[in-house]
Amino acid sequence: MCGIFGIVTNKEQQLGPVLVSAAHSLTYRGYDSVGCATLHEDGVIDLRKDVGKVASVAERLGFDTMIGKRGIVQLRWATFGAPSQVNAQPHLDSDGDMVGAHNGNVVNNVELMAQFTAEGMTVRSTNDGESCVHAVERYVNQGYGMLEAIRRAYHDLEGDYAFIIGRVGEEQLYAFKKGSGLVAGIGEGATYASSDLPSILALTRRVVRIRDGEIVVLRPAGVDLYHVEDGQPIKREPELVTESMDAVAKGGYAHFMLKEIHEQPGVARELLHLYDASADIAPVVGKLRQARHLYLIGCGTSYHACLLGAVYMARLAGRPAIPILAPQFIPQYAPTIGPEDVGLFVSQSGETKDVLNAFHVGQRRGMGSISLVNVIGSTLMNETEHALPLACGYEISVPATKTFMNQALAFLYLALRMGGHNTGVLARLPELLQVTLTTVDAPVRALESRLVQRDDLYCLGYGLTYPIALEGALKLKEVTYAHCEGMLSTEFKHGPLSAVDEGYPVIFATGPEDVGLAVSGINEVAVRGGHTIAIAAADARLQANAHTTITLPDADPLFTPLLATLPLQLLSYYLGVARGYDPDFPRNLSKTLTVD
Ligand code: M6R
Repeated sequence: MCGIFGIVTNKEQQLGPVLVSAAHSLTYRGYDSVGCATLHEDGVIDLRKDVGKVASVAERLGFDTMIGKRGIVQLRWATFGAPSQVNAQPHLDSDGDMVGAHNGNVVNNVELMAQFTAEGMTVRSTNDGESCVHAVERYVNQGYGMLEAIRRAYHDLEGDYAFIIGRVGEEQLYAFKKGSGLVAGIGEGATYASSDLPSILALTRRVVRIRDGEIVVLRPAGVDLYHVEDGQPIKREPELVTESMDAVAKGGYAHFMLKEIHEQPGVARELLHLYDASADIAPVVGKLRQARHLYLIGCGTSYHACLLGAVYMARLAGRPAIPILAPQFIPQYAPTIGPEDVGLFVSQSGETKDVLNAFHVGQRRGMGSISLVNVIGSTLMNETEHALPLACGYEISVPATKTFMNQALAFLYLALRMGGHNTGVLARLPELLQVTLTTVDAPVRALESRLVQRDDLYCLGYGLTYPIALEGALKLKEVTYAHCEGMLSTEFKHGPLSAVDEGYPVIFATGPEDVGLAVSGINEVAVRGGHTIAIAAADARLQANAHTTITLPDADPLFTPLLATLPLQLLSYYLGVARGYDPDFPRNLSKTLTVD
């Protein structure tokens, strides 16, 4: 989840403070390294970069003193290549007269690096941002001008990314995008490009949004746009952004929770690219396979991901795993733990005290450790033997949404690999998530008016959807302050059925394999006057029996838990807002619980 920012000015000046300020505004994405490059009028490129926090690297390397007419700053979150000074961005081309940086992932990086080396270029790192620079250099070496070289390079670079590059002896910077965000800004005597609008709004409110397949050329007096395909110029008037910084940070959504719900197709895609290219997956899979006992450990939403992970691992890899709430791990299993066992610790923050307590107990007994964490540089990520990132970027809303999605997807990915299956089947998932978000919105909103006055409801699931029922219920409780219980659907008749009276809402999250069972449960509730709601792929039996159906797209049954999560998140959000609560910051809750 790297961030980039570039500036072009009309006179040589001290650019360091602007670049440092832009870097600070990009930090919310999470990062491990930071770098600045300025291009001087006399043809010198000043490049300074290292691993560490913006403030300390900037002070140590004197970013503030950097001068030039053009500048680039990049925050890197390691994907291709370990976090190191040499892998930090920006990168130079072979003879040091071009400098560039990217965000996102170039998935054919390894192949490209081999080609560049064979073609005689100087490759200094294993980072895919350097591939972007050499991809342009390749065509500049063949005699093409920058614009034409970039057009050709674009077709060589596979993946989702945005890239910015400059060359000595010119006065422009060039940026282009494929998948990742990119926006340009026009100020007084300066223009800008960035992966993030807020970093530009501090400098100007006249912006041009760049689309996939477009190149933007930043000049001191304005910006020009071109189509990558045919090199033809594009006419697009700048727009004036009038929203507050807060509204812009929410990306046009009313709340961070809604924004983060809608980010899920994108973060899922990012995670798949990351894992497909990661050298860390194979050793983690080996360790998970070999463990004597495998514990999946987390709290709250992260624990629900562990429950789902255990189902995936058993079904896809024949590997029994023990999902356990972190605080219960200590009294229940600590005395039995040994070095042959492995704990997979799941946490958005990587700082949850309950989870760290369990980790430290396991560590003292020699247990192997792996973490699945969103916050880069967190305690859990630093201290476990292996760490896999969730790659969601910063999750601001207290209710976890996109991080649950990527936890669930990470488990599905690992289980497929553990079972020796092809992970290519996951390629369709981001698109299915997008389709689901679009199609379930209206039926969920229709349900909102029927449920808004309810202070009690149940959310039921079975097999793969059991963890989703628990997670849906947690989200509903957290955001609406209503009592909502999640439960295995077959357990409902063993007690809670007595709560059902006229209109009592019971949600059934159902996979295609469990429709028969769900129909029985639905009828048990319906005949007692309850209001039954089915969340499932289209099925005539559910349509005929449930009062309300929220239809998921047809998909592999393995995807049902991930798809069914979306309407439950949306329902929680809409109900919370309709009841007058702030879904981003529910009362009494904190994003990271660092206390016992
Ligand atoms: O940072 P973690 O994933 O370790 O946090 C665990 C729980 O506190 C967290 O999942 C909590 O349940 C969420 N706010 C639920 O939305």
